[in-house]
Amino acid sequence: MSLMKIEDLTYRYESSNKNVLNKMTAEFDKGKVYAIVGKSGSGKTTLLSLISGLDVCTGGSISYSGKNLKETDRDEYRAKSIGVVFQSYNLLLNATAAENIVLSMNISGSDEPYKKEYAYALLERMGIDRETADRKILKLSGGEQQRVGIARALAHNPDIIIADEPTGNLDSETEADIMDILSKLAHDDEKCVIIVTHSKKVSSYADDIYGIADGKLVPVRIGSARRDQKKDDKQISSKNKSPTLDEETFLQLKAIYSAQKNNSAIAVWVPLIIWAACLITAFLLSTFIGGFIGNMAAAVIAVLSAPAAFIPMRKFASGCQSALSAKLDECAKKFETTTTQLRQAYFDYNSETKKRTEQTE
Ligand SMILES: Nc1ncnc2c1ncn2[C@@H]1O[C@H](COP(=O)(O)OP(=O)(O)OP(=O)(O)O)[C@@H](O)[C@H]1O
Ligand SMILES: [Mg+2]
Repeated sequence: MSLMKIEDLTYRYESSNKNVLNKMTAEFDKGKVYAIVGKSGSGKTTLLSLISGLDVCTGGSISYSGKNLKETDRDEYRAKSIGVVFQSYNLLLNATAAENIVLSMNISGSDEPYKKEYAYALLERMGIDRETADRKILKLSGGEQQRVGIARALAHNPDIIIADEPTGNLDSETEADIMDILSKLAHDDEKCVIIVTHSKKVSSYADDIYGIADGKLVPVRIGSARRDQKKDDKQISSKNKSPTLDEETFLQLKAIYSAQKNNSAIAVWVPLIIWAACLITAFLLSTFIGGFIGNMAAAVIAVLSAPAAFIPMRKFASGCQSALSAKLDECAKKFETTTTQLRQAYFDYNSETKKRTEQTE
């Protein structure tokens, strides 16, 4: 059974008297990149909005894992099964890259216990290091923003990633980087990646290329040399699947993850407490000593206390986090895997242990 099946799909906008999509039929599977091409106005974005559950078709059906989307809870489908990557990124500009991911996880009701750390690991996989992950979106390049956009689409580990002209605003080198990431998601992580594009270079990454004409999908090129490449890639990447952990490594990872969590908390709370103490001192100085000296001292303390409390602590915390990340990298190298997969292995081991304990009780 294919992951997604489209049968006789028809769609007409309320204000229009013409079907944009007309009895369209298609199937999409895991582990493949699909490119959808077609002239402007042919209905590519309309198709993606139906696949992503943002809109409902006027005729025919879309089934996900054998279930008609019309009979599915579409909010849950959108929150769990689909990740969307936009041409214009659609990120919160005043939040950091990591915060954008955490927020998206909160909205989709993720039960991941260490969301921030998960976000860092996901971003790291997209080539965004911690320093960049802690920068506001406004201060990232277009390519970096799109990497964050892909990480956000992946935050709830969906089966399907859809992308509407994901490289439309990027130069050709960055376009290649982004397409490498999206291809790996299909070929290594078994995602179903559906990309709408006007770019020949982007469609050259696809396993199957379809065009839209007269409201129907028509095959442009099905299968490619990439398939053989994919088999080789799979053999190599099978090494990168989640490793099986021994207890010693599990405990070591547990210590690292909890140190990372504590470190993040300390980096926020300690400077906040110091800052609050300084502000109280400033208030007391101004109220009880007063005069020029008292007020000046209070003003100096009030102005300098925030940077004096936050900057050194932030530097210290960032040093600690780098040291912990280096330990994780070392551990991942030992298992010939990535830190994301190591993390997955950690949670698998944890839930296995919990299950075993429950059974023996
Ligand atoms: N909200 C709407 N109401 C009425 N018609 C619409 C609406 N949105 C899109 N259309 C029309 O539906 C058709 C398909 O639009 P769609 O955005 O899917 O095209 P597209 O293939 O994505 O084009 P492009 O390559 O320019 O992004 C177009 O003729 C467009 O004018
Ligand atoms: Mg479009």
